[in-house]
Amino acid sequence: MVKLVANNLEMKFGERHIFSVDRLQLSQGQTIHLQGDNGCGKTTLMKLLAGLISPSRGVITTEGFDPLPWWRSNALLGKAVYLHQHPYLFDGSVEYNLSYPHPFCNMTKQQLSERTQTAIEMAELTHLKNQAASSLSGGEKQRLAIARAWIMQPKLLMLDEPTSNMDRFSQDLVLTMISDLQQLGTGMLISSHQSCVLTSLCNQSWVIENQHIMSSFTAENITDSTPINLQEPRYVIAN
Ligand SMILES: Nc1ncnc2c1ncn2[C@@H]1O[C@H](COP(=O)(O)OP(=O)(O)O)[C@@H](O)[C@H]1O
Ligand SMILES: [Mg+2]
Repeated sequence: MVKLVANNLEMKFGERHIFSVDRLQLSQGQTIHLQGDNGCGKTTLMKLLAGLISPSRGVITTEGFDPLPWWRSNALLGKAVYLHQHPYLFDGSVEYNLSYPHPFCNMTKQQLSERTQTAIEMAELTHLKNQAASSLSGGEKQRLAIARAWIMQPKLLMLDEPTSNMDRFSQDLVLTMISDLQQLGTGMLISSHQSCVLTSLCNQSWVIENQHIMSSFTAENITDSTPINLQEPRYVIAN
């Protein structure tokens, strides 16, 4: 079971306090909706969990791999994926972006090629597959980035405002891919300041408000098969 655990976390930019929280855990089997107003710190929290920035105080560790603060180890490369709101794409075609061999993924050439073709179809990108990724619309770029994540099958996936540029058609396509990853046990953190088609999949929510992060289960989404660790505190309130 791959999990990221944050303890005694505080984030500041200069003197400005963004948020603090005693304990948070993102693990396989969870699907979490990260909510909060613009500027409350959703992207900052995801970047912290993704190891792209360091906290002002506290540690984030990974269980299942390495006791070190995980951003100092390579253990989660390819296993924990953060998708930026404005996806980073390679120069080159849509197909190139999907079929680029992921250095940290355990896949043969044949498997990668098969998954690429399936992803192109699932994301309805067939008619765009030879087009430069840089020329896609915002929603198409997000669809492409999510298709790439679907190919990688990460253990943990953080999606930053994934549907912000998407029409209903794109949202439904992405819902299929994300549901598929959820079935495979990928733990997901999905940020959006309001409900979207993906948040219907969530069984827990984290809300950032008044520089605190509060975590709660979404009771109606808990089923017998929902793999939630009920040992976890029902509410985690920042200090
Ligand atoms: N590198 C940075 N330096 C200074 N302030 C930052 C930096 N990154 C983000 N901020 C500030 O931190 C706050 C939280 O930002 P962000 O996490 O992007 O919010 P959200 O994603 O919830 O809209 C914002 O007020 C933003 O301006
Ligand atoms: Mg943001």
